[in-house]
Amino acid sequence: MKEHDQWKSVYPEGEIFEDEIERQYYFMKKAAFYIEKKAEEKKRPLTFFVTTFGCQMNAKDSEKLKGILEKVGYVEGESEDEADFVIYNTCTVRDNANQRVYGRLGSLGSKKKKNPQKLIALCGCMMQESSVIEKIKKSYGFVDIIFGTHNLFKFAELLCKRLESTERVIEIWKETDKIVEELPSERTYSFKSGINIMYGCNNFCSYCIVPYVRGRERSRSPEDIIKETRKLAEDGVIEVMLLGQNVNSYGRNLTESVNFSQLLKMVEEVDGIERIRFMTSHPKDLSEEIIKVMKHSKKICRHLHLPLQSGSTRILKAMNRKYTKEEYVSLAKKIREEIEDISITTDIIVGFPGETMEDVKETVKVIEEVEFDGAFTFLYSKRTGTPAASMEEQVSKEVMKEGFSYVLDAVQKTAKKRASLREGKVMDVLVEEINGQDSSLVSGRLSNNMMVHFPGGKELIGKIVPVYLKESKGFYFLGEKCEGNH
Ligand code: 5AD
Ligand code: SF4
Repeated sequence: MKEHDQWKSVYPEGEIFEDEIERQYYFMKKAAFYIEKKAEEKKRPLTFFVTTFGCQMNAKDSEKLKGILEKVGYVEGESEDEADFVIYNTCTVRDNANQRVYGRLGSLGSKKKKNPQKLIALCGCMMQESSVIEKIKKSYGFVDIIFGTHNLFKFAELLCKRLESTERVIEIWKETDKIVEELPSERTYSFKSGINIMYGCNNFCSYCIVPYVRGRERSRSPEDIIKETRKLAEDGVIEVMLLGQNVNSYGRNLTESVNFSQLLKMVEEVDGIERIRFMTSHPKDLSEEIIKVMKHSKKICRHLHLPLQSGSTRILKAMNRKYTKEEYVSLAKKIREEIEDISITTDIIVGFPGETMEDVKETVKVIEEVEFDGAFTFLYSKRTGTPAASMEEQVSKEVMKEGFSYVLDAVQKTAKKRASLREGKVMDVLVEEINGQDSSLVSGRLSNNMMVHFPGGKELIGKIVPVYLKESKGFYFLGEKCEGNH
């Protein structure tokens, strides 16, 4: 008897479900049935290995995939080579992320040849592009399951579909207004967690592919967010990161009247949560109210990631960012005045179409004026379908690289200067893990998000401890745990 028929004899089909959550739990039960059979054959549990590319939102999505995988009976494997099920959760914000996926797929193909039972799934932002799907069909026909950003919650259902046939399963939704939460999720850290507060983006910055692959902005209801926060707190989580492409516009599509600063206040009230972070802010939507809430909060971290993208008003206009250089600088100054000891970090793109050395110099001036505590600097990457891709005056690689090194140099200087201001102070660190390079050290983060490494053991993981910041190394500190007074 085929496995599917065996399943049918145990659990008759044709069930009617209350909602999508119940439906997906049904498919998890069904997948678990199949996986158990396979594990019996192999006389060992089946293993999975998930690789995440890109941002915090993808990292959160991968936790959901892992939660479902564990629910259906897989255990996390040590490596991609040995795993029975390999998943790439992809990113397409810049082309180098795509190239990395294709590179790794090449070598996965030869492993699948040796072991045809190995399952391979691709998901995430890259899969929302039809040109990518065509390429995978043509050149990487061995991939078993492909799905996108909008139907990740159907992972168990798609897995069942694949296990019930020999056909490849491809299911991509162009759009959705659905938000399906409350499915299993396997947190990477026991003491901190991301919480999705909204999905998608309506800003259409002219270089950015995100609105096309993540769809329109959709906020979750505050009740659902608070319910999830409470549950996490009960489970031992002390730090939450509220996630969205543009958290400052939270609530705009909801029928009830609620905005981001009100949501922050609600999260603040949840007992057990000690630190609140959020990501990402858009300067055009960062209100005075949000600054005020941050200023008076005991829990909201002293860190704001505020992407500048460019310090030239002309380029900002072409980027469709909807603020000028002067507006950004005065906003940053206001934030620094209002919120003591805040870190401001940013994203900067170099080489946007039409950008000249004069524009780059303006960006450098803004960096010096704002004195960023840190920045991610990116070379502009042309994304098919975005308005910037068809702009004339694409900048040559050489000019881009020259500008990039100016910007990087400026950012490193301000970051170093800002970090040195904290040298010699005692600040609270949330310890995250044993240091990867030196196991006599632990690593954790200050409220302002800077990393600190200091001597300590695994009993400190998940605890907030005062640490003397002995030496600044530019992007991180070496410290010593305070045992009493310092
Ligand atoms: N090229 C380079 N960088 C980009 N980003 C978004 N799109 C592109 C692009 N086409 C950067 C922006 C954004 C960050 C997440 O990625 O700086 O803030
Ligand atoms: Fe992309 Fe702009 Fe939306 Fe950020 S705000 S995701 S850069 S379109």
